[in-house]
Amino acid sequence: SALEQQQDDLAAFQVIAHRGASGHAPESTLAAFTLAHEQGADYLEMDAQLTADGKLVVFHDDTIERTSDGTGHINDYTLAELKALDVGTWFNQANPEKADDAFKGARLLTLDEVFEAFGHDARYYIEAKSPALNPGLEDALLAKLKEYDMIQAGRVLVQSFNQPSLLKLHEQSPALPLVQLLWYYPDEENAGQLKEWTDVTPGSGNVDDTDFQTIADYAVGIGTNFIYEGAPVISADFVDQAQDNDLRVHVYTVNDTDDMQTLLDWGVDGMFTNYPDRLLELAR
Ligand code: G3P
Ligand code: CA
Repeated sequence: SALEQQQDDLAAFQVIAHRGASGHAPESTLAAFTLAHEQGADYLEMDAQLTADGKLVVFHDDTIERTSDGTGHINDYTLAELKALDVGTWFNQANPEKADDAFKGARLLTLDEVFEAFGHDARYYIEAKSPALNPGLEDALLAKLKEYDMIQAGRVLVQSFNQPSLLKLHEQSPALPLVQLLWYYPDEENAGQLKEWTDVTPGSGNVDDTDFQTIADYAVGIGTNFIYEGAPVISADFVDQAQDNDLRVHVYTVNDTDDMQTLLDWGVDGMFTNYPDRLLELAR
């Protein structure tokens, strides 16, 4: 089946275009996703959130000021209000050397628009973002995935930092492949140790085999950071340990080719990158 094909494909190295080819075009816009798709990324990564009127949109931050000409919380605006924003011009101002007039006036995307643009030709790596700020997100997302037959067609994977969100999704749709996101940072009170972000939940402190097994009960893999404040926070042993517990290891967000090469040498199963072209050249 298409779903089994997706599982088989996940055994190979995956190039995950983080917010599209967001190193080249404004993140989470049609330009960024189109470029990533053309470059040959395996997955288009995106963050799903809910508008004030309950529509699913693709947007990373909790607030809109960094990547638009508006201000405030995304969840406080209706879709019509968000559609009036320019989510492209900021990129030209922040990256004059990559500026393109075509990015000016780019519009924030609904998840429907992304699915209508690429259909079953692409795979989607969708983050259930900030569940506390987006109540009902899991149900809305599942309904949308079913509407477009994305699950049975092996087109989608859902990721979240929030374990309860993933458990809810797993209970309602056991076939949907899930990835547990982790964020490691050095624990200031226990210098030299690694610690999970408290929102992640399984266990506390370092992830051990028991934690990995807990995650493997509902997820096909973990998504973890590589660098925190300039220093690596995971190791080749960590990657081996997760893989020994039947979890794929996808690492975010890797844009530097030396870092990409290090992680390829460690045998990770995929990387999130703003430069899918760079990673594809190195990995293939
Ligand atoms: O989804 C993986 C990575 O994107 C998590 O971090 O903040 O870029 O969504 P963030
Ligand atoms: Ca994300």
